[in-house]
Amino acid sequence: MNNTGKMHDPKNILEVSDLVQTFTQPYGILDRLTGRPKKTVHAVNGVSFSVRRGEVFSLVGESGCGKSTTARTIVRLLEPKSGTLLFDGQDITKFTPAEMMPVRKKMQMIFQDPYASLNPRQRIREIVMEPMLFHREAADREEAHVKMLRLLDIVGFRPEQADRYPHQFSGGQRQRIGIARALATNPTFLAADEPVSALDVSIQAQVLNLMMDLRDEFNLSYLFIAHDLSVVRHVTERLGIMYLGFIVEQGERDRIFEKPLHPYTQALLAVAPTLDRKIAAVPLSGDVPSPIHLPVGCPFASRCPQKMSICETNRPKLRILDGRAVACHLY
Ligand SMILES: Nc1ncnc2c1ncn2[C@@H]1O[C@H](COP(=O)(O)OP(=O)(O)OP(=O)(O)O)[C@@H](O)[C@H]1O
Ligand SMILES: [Mg+2]
Repeated sequence: MNNTGKMHDPKNILEVSDLVQTFTQPYGILDRLTGRPKKTVHAVNGVSFSVRRGEVFSLVGESGCGKSTTARTIVRLLEPKSGTLLFDGQDITKFTPAEMMPVRKKMQMIFQDPYASLNPRQRIREIVMEPMLFHREAADREEAHVKMLRLLDIVGFRPEQADRYPHQFSGGQRQRIGIARALATNPTFLAADEPVSALDVSIQAQVLNLMMDLRDEFNLSYLFIAHDLSVVRHVTERLGIMYLGFIVEQGERDRIFEKPLHPYTQALLAVAPTLDRKIAAVPLSGDVPSPIHLPVGCPFASRCPQKMSICETNRPKLRILDGRAVACHLY
């Protein structure tokens, strides 16, 4: 049991239950004059999963399916609309900013865009030392300096590079600086939102390998976000496939890669670049429905090559099948 009486499995660092997030679209004078109704974007629609200690759990799906919103809500950059978030057994769903302070130190985020996420006016040394001092991970600047140099060394920089500014580094190097900054507070959990998507393929593996080495060295757990299954294949233990703010399939990596059950997972896998492709390519056609008007039936129905009439009228629930959870009327 934890602070609000929710059951907690001590194997998990993070437990997300029925998480919901919405946005209200900007409502201007014209909208008011024309009496247009306020529009709600249903970005995350009851997502549940857990991240075990020391594990990489991935969320995968196309652009706009709600991956970043899920991650940002979990680290409480956004207030959850409903659902529960347990972090290290503590219910943080309604924590105030002050209550979140010690939690923030333990859950850090790595961002997709290494160009936009580092302050261009700060030297690398300040970028890494600032969170350390803010969260009192170092008693004074002297200690922070020593720790900063050690972190930069771990992510592959020489001490004299600490005096440079972000623009003097390449994308891959900047992402390694972002990783050093995330590690500065000595976290146990990292939410990595498409950490390699902006990088050249040749650099992606380098950054992924670094993240996996750090996991072992610092005993980290990751929530890893990607839009491409091939990126997570070699790093993740378990994964959830997201579509229109819903998880449509979730389970162990090997189960899902060897035999994807949901037609959407099959389509994603068919387009993932890999040499040993076992799935017949079913190219995705059609548009993703608007998250403002969620379909009453299966969220994937409008693009599903195996659609049946029930799919238009009934939303399938996740159920356990063949060692994973899948939400599809085919099964
Ligand atoms: N601040 C916001 N205000 C309104 N709508 C938003 C806001 N942030 C996200 N959305 C909408 O919520 C949905 C989910 O967006 P989100 O950024 O979480 O998707 P994503 O899976 O991370 O996509 P990508 O792969 O492009 O990063 C989208 O329809 C998006 O337009
Ligand atoms: Mg995103």
